[in-house]
Amino acid sequence: MSGERQHLTRVPGLLYGGDYNPEQWPEEVWAEDAKLMREAGVTMATVGVFAWARLQPGPEEWDFGWLDRLLELLDAHGVAVDLATATASPPAWLVRAHPELLPVTADGVRLEFGSRQHYCPSSPVYRAAAVRLTRALAARYAGHPAVALWHVHNEYGDHVTECFCPESAADFRRWLGRRYGDADGLNAAWGTGFWSQHYRTLDEVEPPRTAPGPVNPTQLLDWRRFCSDALLECYRAERAVLAELAPGTPVTTNFMSMFKALDYWKWAAEEDVVSDDAYPDPADPQAYVGAALNYDLMRSLKGGAPWLLLEQAPSAVSWRPVNVPKLPGLQRLWSLQAVSRGADAVMYFQWRASRAGAEKFHSAMLPHRGTDSRGWRESVRFGAELRQLAAVAGGRTRAETAIVLDWDSWWALELDDRPSARMRWPELLRPWYAALHRRSIAVDFVPPGAELAQYRVVLAPNLYLLRQTTADWLGAYAATGGHLVCGPFSGVVDEHDHIHLGGYPAPLRETLGVVVDEYWPLPEGATTTVTLADGRELTASRWTEWLETIDAQPVARYASGPLTGLPAVTRRGTAWYLGCDLGPDTGAVLDTVLAEARVRPVLDTPEGVEATRRGPGHLFLLNHGDHPAEIDLPEEWATATDLLDPARTPGPALTLGPLGVAVLQRPTPPTE
Ligand code: GLA
Repeated sequence: MSGERQHLTRVPGLLYGGDYNPEQWPEEVWAEDAKLMREAGVTMATVGVFAWARLQPGPEEWDFGWLDRLLELLDAHGVAVDLATATASPPAWLVRAHPELLPVTADGVRLEFGSRQHYCPSSPVYRAAAVRLTRALAARYAGHPAVALWHVHNEYGDHVTECFCPESAADFRRWLGRRYGDADGLNAAWGTGFWSQHYRTLDEVEPPRTAPGPVNPTQLLDWRRFCSDALLECYRAERAVLAELAPGTPVTTNFMSMFKALDYWKWAAEEDVVSDDAYPDPADPQAYVGAALNYDLMRSLKGGAPWLLLEQAPSAVSWRPVNVPKLPGLQRLWSLQAVSRGADAVMYFQWRASRAGAEKFHSAMLPHRGTDSRGWRESVRFGAELRQLAAVAGGRTRAETAIVLDWDSWWALELDDRPSARMRWPELLRPWYAALHRRSIAVDFVPPGAELAQYRVVLAPNLYLLRQTTADWLGAYAATGGHLVCGPFSGVVDEHDHIHLGGYPAPLRETLGVVVDEYWPLPEGATTTVTLADGRELTASRWTEWLETIDAQPVARYASGPLTGLPAVTRRGTAWYLGCDLGPDTGAVLDTVLAEARVRPVLDTPEGVEATRRGPGHLFLLNHGDHPAEIDLPEEWATATDLLDPARTPGPALTLGPLGVAVLQRPTPPTE
């Protein structure tokens, strides 16, 4: 284990800090900022994210003096810098000289300057200008003592994920040419025999702009793939400059949690460190479950490596219809939740609250009121606490359960003209994840084809799009005794969104031993009763299937509605199939699977209390509830130390107040 304890940047311990936008403030304020950062225990600031216009005031004008002074100041105060390449908001002079770089919507509307992220990802002008700025920054600051991390761009895909301008169209055609070779290949893949959509040459192909009726689904699916790749090309171009001029300093670009538009498996492979921006809604009492899911994904994107929580709100955001602040203690709890799931940084948007601009009501570590404020006092207190947790940095979580996540399948599932528009990946996934979360079962996400040897259970809540290779991979896992659970509406189409003929889920039919005669989606509000062999009744909503067994045992049957008597849940040895959406009742089926697979929970905890391990030596207990919670501890943790309260040894039972946290450290952790 100790071999895995490498720091993500050269800064030891858990990073603490936030986005710092000094270009919004007169220089006199900077000295105060640096002093207060030190007071709060800030160890890293993300600098320059939206500073393009300041760094390059005109096509041939550069102004680095202010950044030189700022980096020196931060360095002198012991604050390392996550230096942004500043390419997410092209300046007005560039846009006016090249209005063609502005993005265009599917309806042909060109989006104006005046916000941010106003660029076409395929624009050669934008890409060249972004690379030029990155080159200038890298040449000047490579090896600078303050710079510990490079931050490429900012939240690729935020606001604009696609552009339909002629430049994008040409880029799309090049992408299609690489994928299919020529029009024949494309016609076959897109099924253009349907509705007279045949193309003679690739030059006749356009992006899926607004059309009279449903657009070719494979065209839409390829468009999703292309758009993710087009933005990835922008990232790659900047990253290549950093690799050339600033080798040795890690590079990241901040993700947006489980974000549909970008295939983060592909993206993470090109980063040194995964980083995430997470904004759970304090108005949602269950927000912590979704947050846990996102954090588990971030940890999984690089095979379990620690990651950086690069942005979150200290209290309220400013972009929801109603922006509810965080109760005292909530930002601490949620920050430590991220740490418990692999984050080695707790950072915020932003350091000092803005006076002007669209985000002036967004909370900050240093609020408008200044240092005489609750927010500031929490920032200082939490910075000190985080230092007490330095030993946690680098620790890895070990999971025995995995969930398969495939962006291709997600994109295809949510295209139009499906049996039910209510089948959305996040909603299908959520109850499966929530069931594991409620039982304190550690879980990783895996892409199709990943190594599964360490997992006792593999869950595929939905794989609407299923390549034969992926089906073979799952089949091999189940054939060697792995516990596989597949969810409804899986194995339906191939990579071109063409139906697998002969009875769904054709590529998995042998593994699962079932065949679907017809999909039977349920309208909003409708439910069906499903009975387990022991008589327990579960409720299906959203989706059911006319399911028949070929070589499998029914585990549960429909007990109401048109499918009464037909199997709803089946198993063939260790390969399980859920032909319906059991929502919150999914856990009743998973319980049997987990028990048979002998998957152990981290700890049995009361409702609302999360228990998470990091490395062999640390156990996090987090009470998300509004009542005190009593947690029984096994012997090996009863004598541990609570790093947040070193004077306390928990003993066999530990009480956590509302929003309370304990981070237990064992004196001599066993080697795992
Ligand atoms: C995102 C962006 C930041 C800021 C915050 C506000 O995460 O990266 O620049 O806009 O949202 O919540």
